[in-house]
Amino acid sequence: MAMPDAVRIVEVGPRDGLQNEKASITTADKIALIDRLSATGMQTVEATSFVSPKWVPQLADAAEVFAGIARKPGVRYPVLVPNEQGYDRARAVGAEEIAVFTAASEAFNQKNINASIDESIERFLPVLQRAKADGVAVRGYVSTVLGCPYQGHVPVDDVVRVAKRLHALGCYEISLGDTIGVGTPEKARAMLKAVAGEVPMPALAIHFHDTYGQALANILACLEEGVAVIDSAVSGTGGCPYAKGASGNVASEDVVYMLHGMGIRTGVDLDALAEAGRWLATLLGRESGSKVGRALATK
Ligand code: HMG
Ligand code: MG
Repeated sequence: MAMPDAVRIVEVGPRDGLQNEKASITTADKIALIDRLSATGMQTVEATSFVSPKWVPQLADAAEVFAGIARKPGVRYPVLVPNEQGYDRARAVGAEEIAVFTAASEAFNQKNINASIDESIERFLPVLQRAKADGVAVRGYVSTVLGCPYQGHVPVDDVVRVAKRLHALGCYEISLGDTIGVGTPEKARAMLKAVAGEVPMPALAIHFHDTYGQALANILACLEEGVAVIDSAVSGTGGCPYAKGASGNVASEDVVYMLHGMGIRTGVDLDALAEAGRWLATLLGRESGSKVGRALATK
């Protein structure tokens, strides 16, 4: 498949980024972050997560955050939902797109959501049925696609099986997560190609954490295979509290800079994005986690 000439960025900073921050961030600042991101031209901003607040206290204010954002026409604001309770909470504040999540590794799933892969999918079934009836779009995440912090190697066949199942159950897009950022380009390419043998490429997204500094290289390999949806987080925030060793997502600023430099359109204003990233970094009391964000600040 040819390299795409346009890519849709799924900005996951307000969810994946903030779920992993020790600093307490006010609800107003979370809302301001989402509104700044939608103002950059991002088409999708994952807003928050309706998981158990006992498991992820950082996002306990999900309902207030979602209710407070200035929803920009044409922008999608998916939210994470692990079960029907999460679905009820998300719908109560008017969420129109959700994301369900499971993994290709049993060991990680147990730590993250206290369920096996099959059990997690059982839990999604009523959520997916209700979403279909309500006209709610559903994204599906598969974590640990290039390695697991507990089981180590994850066979590609397991990734393909879970991705295919989520797609068959009605997820319009499957996001393939290198949760702990251990992948390298040829492994990422081979994994994507294998999944694309069962799920059409336009229904696939990549979600790479950057623990070992490989994310941009992995993304480039996957672009060469034709993937056209990329998850990333402003200022390189992110990580899963239940994935030992996970660090930030690839920074959105770095992805947008690379794509624009390759002549691939994103619709995102890089300067505005870098500014949002630096604003967030200041809030978190550190410098921007994006090299591009830092470089643009000195110009
Ligand atoms: P559990 O303890 O097995 O479930 O957790 P439970 O049904 O026994 O519920 C325990 C308590 O939580 C109960 O309260 C429930 O009411 C409550 P209690 O009776 O003790 O007072 N509860 C809820 N409250 C609010 N909203 C809900 C909800 N559900 C239950 N939705 C559960 C199972 C799935 C709930 C839990 O394990 C959980 O919330 N896990 C989420 C972990 C998480 O958010 N991880 C990070 C996101 S995944 C990720 O980052 C990876 C990704 O980025 C891709 C990648 O990088 O690979 C997506
Ligand atoms: Mg993630």
